[in-house]
Amino acid sequence: MRAIVVHGGFGDLNEERIEGVRTSVETGFSILIQGGSALDACEKAINVLEDAPVFNAGTGSALTLDGQCAMDAAIMKGSTLNIGAVADVRNVKNPISLARKVMDETDHVLLVGKGAEEFARIMGFPKYDPVTEDQRQKWRHLREKLAQSGQIKHWKKLSRLLRSHPELLQGTVGCVALDGSNEIVAGTSTGGVFLKLFGRVGDTPIPGAGTYATKYGGASALGIGEGIMKTLLTKTVVDLIRNGISAQKAAEAGIDLLDNTVKLAAGVIAIDRKGNIGFAHNYENMLVAFRNENMNDLIISGDEGYSK
Ligand code: GLY
Repeated sequence: MRAIVVHGGFGDLNEERIEGVRTSVETGFSILIQGGSALDACEKAINVLEDAPVFNAGTGSALTLDGQCAMDAAIMKGSTLNIGAVADVRNVKNPISLARKVMDETDHVLLVGKGAEEFARIMGFPKYDPVTEDQRQKWRHLREKLAQSGQIKHWKKLSRLLRSHPELLQGTVGCVALDGSNEIVAGTSTGGVFLKLFGRVGDTPIPGAGTYATKYGGASALGIGEGIMKTLLTKTVVDLIRNGISAQKAAEAGIDLLDNTVKLAAGVIAIDRKGNIGFAHNYENMLVAFRNENMNDLIISGDEGYSK
């Protein structure tokens, strides 16, 4: 059974974002149907989302407190537990492809900051500025708001800001794919949370937090990374799948865990080795699209699967 699920993060369910997840699934699914690998399907599906400025990944990523675009990404192969990741990387167009290079071309799991950027150049990735004018304007507005309210001390104040400006959580993107050889691959790419402190790394590139896959299942998460790291959300979901829980129930149980502990916004998508798909979230408007071989067309969901 070949299957793919992608998420476009939290945020507006507008036409551009819906089209983005549609194209992403279509791109990945056509690779799978032509006999391609889950690794290629996952990478290319995420490339589509990274290249669309309406998602918080690659071009159009959220900006740090000091106005930089510092991105995180990871891609993981379930059969081998091989994973490649980059964190706090700048001036790269497609961080997920760089993460794949870390997996394919090095003995390491995670490269960060300047080292990751240097590695990108060695691998032939040209220098690229992913900052869009839209994100620059949003950054100016939010910085001003923070400065005016005097609430520039970090997370507690920022959490309050996030509650009044849910659009700030817009968009980390992710994908889980299962190919005809039963390989499961999970990938995630993000600019992180808006106004994050310089140097902050989120859940996305941390194995078992934002991204995880085994031969039993794969998962990709979105939301406030600090909560996802503390609960190891994707590892939790994949372990539940291994224990015979359905992908849907495992996703819901993962989100329940966050609700009962850290109480921070999160969502997760998952696939099991039979191609069953699950997703759950505790925050509004998680955009998900998926397809498997039993389906005539893909399904796009805005609020279904909302676990609250
Ligand atoms: N989940 C994305 C982040 O917190 O960086």
